[in-house]
Amino acid sequence: MPARVLIGTQWGDEGKGKIADILSEEASAVVRYQGGANAGHTVVVGEKTLILHLIPCGILRPGKLCYIGNGVVVDPEALFGEISRLENEGIQVQGRLFVSLSAHVILPYHKLMERIFESLLGDRRIGTAGRGIGPAYRDKAARVGVRVCDLLDRRVFRDKAAVLAQEARMFLEQLGDSDVLVLQASQVGDDAGSAGEEGSLRVEEPSEVVERYSALGERMRPMAVDVSKELNRALKEGKHVLFEGAQGTLLDVDFGSYPYVSSSNATAGGACTGTGVGPTMIDEVLGVAKAYTTRVGNGPFPTELPAEASAALREAGGEYGATTGRPRRCGWFDAVVVKHSVRINGVSRMFLTKLDVLDGIEELKICTGYKYEGGLLEDFPASLEAMFRVEPLYEILPGWKSSVNEARNEKDLPEEALSYVRRIEELVGAKIAGISVGSGREEMLFLD
Ligand code: GDP
Ligand code: IMO
Ligand code: MG
Repeated sequence: MPARVLIGTQWGDEGKGKIADILSEEASAVVRYQGGANAGHTVVVGEKTLILHLIPCGILRPGKLCYIGNGVVVDPEALFGEISRLENEGIQVQGRLFVSLSAHVILPYHKLMERIFESLLGDRRIGTAGRGIGPAYRDKAARVGVRVCDLLDRRVFRDKAAVLAQEARMFLEQLGDSDVLVLQASQVGDDAGSAGEEGSLRVEEPSEVVERYSALGERMRPMAVDVSKELNRALKEGKHVLFEGAQGTLLDVDFGSYPYVSSSNATAGGACTGTGVGPTMIDEVLGVAKAYTTRVGNGPFPTELPAEASAALREAGGEYGATTGRPRRCGWFDAVVVKHSVRINGVSRMFLTKLDVLDGIEELKICTGYKYEGGLLEDFPASLEAMFRVEPLYEILPGWKSSVNEARNEKDLPEEALSYVRRIEELVGAKIAGISVGSGREEMLFLD
């Protein structure tokens, strides 16, 4: 299977990093196609834990080529920060990492605008990662965005930065005499990344921004390529390419719990639009699901547990954001959500992660449908109102007492654990190809 897309089937943090790392062993190239440094993908190799935000997990395997596609919004400061962290770990990045000339760039204006938008939303704020993701995609759609190729052309960049600065100034002037309290950078931010620097609401002068970012652009020049051309060539040569999705289907701007979503297509289709590889070239779509459900940020979460039980699962699963440590909300496995993802992504096979976290829980619940307005919903609804008001219908399964952490094949699993997995498989309608039973590379079993 030369071209595989790996996607999250819940609200992100399903363990895509771990699975991408395993799958990248067979790949020649690993590519990110959407999102940006809002992602936090954890890979545990031996004693080392590495968290990747913008760079594909393939970078941890010597010799693999890594690409950041046009669908990603790239924060050059975050990119170089990540590169130097990897280099400090002795990982060679130079000559192995490439960025699309067409990828959009995150500028300080985007982070500032995100703080303004989140503040304006008040109680309805999304709880974003504070990385400027939404405003960067907004500018892309509004056709005023700055791309990597624009960073390399000072005249074009200067004109574009002036427009963005002007807009930010207009927003701030309007807010001047309103009582909207604009959030500090540290109040915006979640799971994935550091919340960004504290700071005033100064709109940076375009000349300063152009100066600083042109220098970063020059550092990017050797990496800036036509990613579509490179990937299509590799695929024609029969090489394996892994498309590493970020976020998850329920955070997809079209199919997620809108408006409590991220701003990109985290679903499999994003792999094509976000890299310039046609749908006929994709061989397989693999889904990752956690054996329970988590989400960070605000928004509906039908199977969320009450505070105390959510905290217990959070402790058992280490469910804290990859960088800032923000606690993740925890709940039971929602088969309605994952079935929705299997359909939308055309998932052929699944990986189930963190089964070990459920060790010792007496009874496990799986949500099989929702009660809503006296009826039964079998599919994830489009209406936000409905998402907030549905009541999960649960099936109860017996838990298991022993640890699954050492299981390396099906026969090692307690009967109840295998039944739990098989029931999930049946409900979501996709075969489970592998089960992860710990964070390490080897803590994995593959089903035939
Ligand atoms: P991603 O964003 O989908 O890559 O997931 P994250 O890295 O944000 O969060 C998944 C967390 O679970 C990380 O801390 C992983 O090291 C950890 N993890 C992954 N698979 C397993 C597993 O099977 N068991 C346990 N206990 N931890 C796991
Ligand atoms: P990975 O790739 C979990 C969430 C944020 C917020 C919403 C919008 O590690 O699975 P954004 O900054 O994207 O505008 O925030 O999306 N979010 C994630 N949640 N995992 C992620 O990435 C996420 N990326 C964004 O918490 O609710
Ligand atoms: Mg994550």
